[in-house]
Amino acid sequence: IDQYAVFGNPIKHSKSPQIHTAFAEQTGQALHYRAHKVEVGRFADAAAQFFKNGGKGLNITVPFKLDAYDFADELSGRARRAGAVNTLALGDDQRIYGDNTDGVGMVRDIKDNLGWEVHNRRILILGAGGAVRGILGPLLKQAPTQVTIANRTAEKAQTLAEMFAERGEVQGGGFDGLAGRQFDLIINGTSASMSGDLPPLPSQLLSNEGCAYDMMYGAEPTPFMRWAAAETAWAVSDGLGMLVEQAAESFCIWRGVRPDTKPVIDMIRQSLS
Ligand code: ATR
Repeated sequence: IDQYAVFGNPIKHSKSPQIHTAFAEQTGQALHYRAHKVEVGRFADAAAQFFKNGGKGLNITVPFKLDAYDFADELSGRARRAGAVNTLALGDDQRIYGDNTDGVGMVRDIKDNLGWEVHNRRILILGAGGAVRGILGPLLKQAPTQVTIANRTAEKAQTLAEMFAERGEVQGGGFDGLAGRQFDLIINGTSASMSGDLPPLPSQLLSNEGCAYDMMYGAEPTPFMRWAAAETAWAVSDGLGMLVEQAAESFCIWRGVRPDTKPVIDMIRQSLS
């Protein structure tokens, strides 16, 4: 039976085994998927061992997405632009292919599952770390009116904006430049939620039908989601759908079959509460 795994550290709370096992059952694919905790600094050894033992594909989560980028023999364009790899696949030629499915996963969740518009919309992204770099390419591909990246460290947002300048209308800066501006979609890509924090946001950032999306998820709404609800956002979502969609895209790369994500999102949602 074909072997797959997710490598990360910590890995205990990973939903990926549940998600991929559900995909496999649903599509009638015979495979085994497990979570594996890798010691920091040991990624390349562990991944080499995995593929040597017949493993077919890996998902990679924190803190190894850069190690996976270096490990891959071949990178997709979107992985190169993201500067990170979350999916490794063994090719028929025995080479290891690196891809990044986070950005397309998020766009698919926003457009297809939530039914929100991205095209011709003004988008604000909070944060300028690895998570945000991973979504910028796929987001700009939807041809929004413009994308503004706001970050605590303004220079990091500016650097990211410059990196993606040829792919669309994108600018970067600090939070203090946001007062008086309006956006149709705000995406929180900071890790502030994890410590219960909220970036300092002015009021009335959201347009009339403005939506708010947090890339984080949990049993409870994040501080950013509560802020958006209080700002009377038209719709608010966490990033659970993104998690399942990026997994579906990986599954598709490995198996050539696209699973139906809806029942799996519902299942994982129920397991949170
Ligand atoms: P990730 O891979 O999850 O993106 P990262 O690269 O460390 O992790 O980036 C974390 C992001 O969250 C950064 O944009 C960080 O802002 P800085 O670049 O100024 O460090 C942002 N962040 C983390 N904690 C924050 C907080 N309490 N308030 C605002 N932004 C925060």
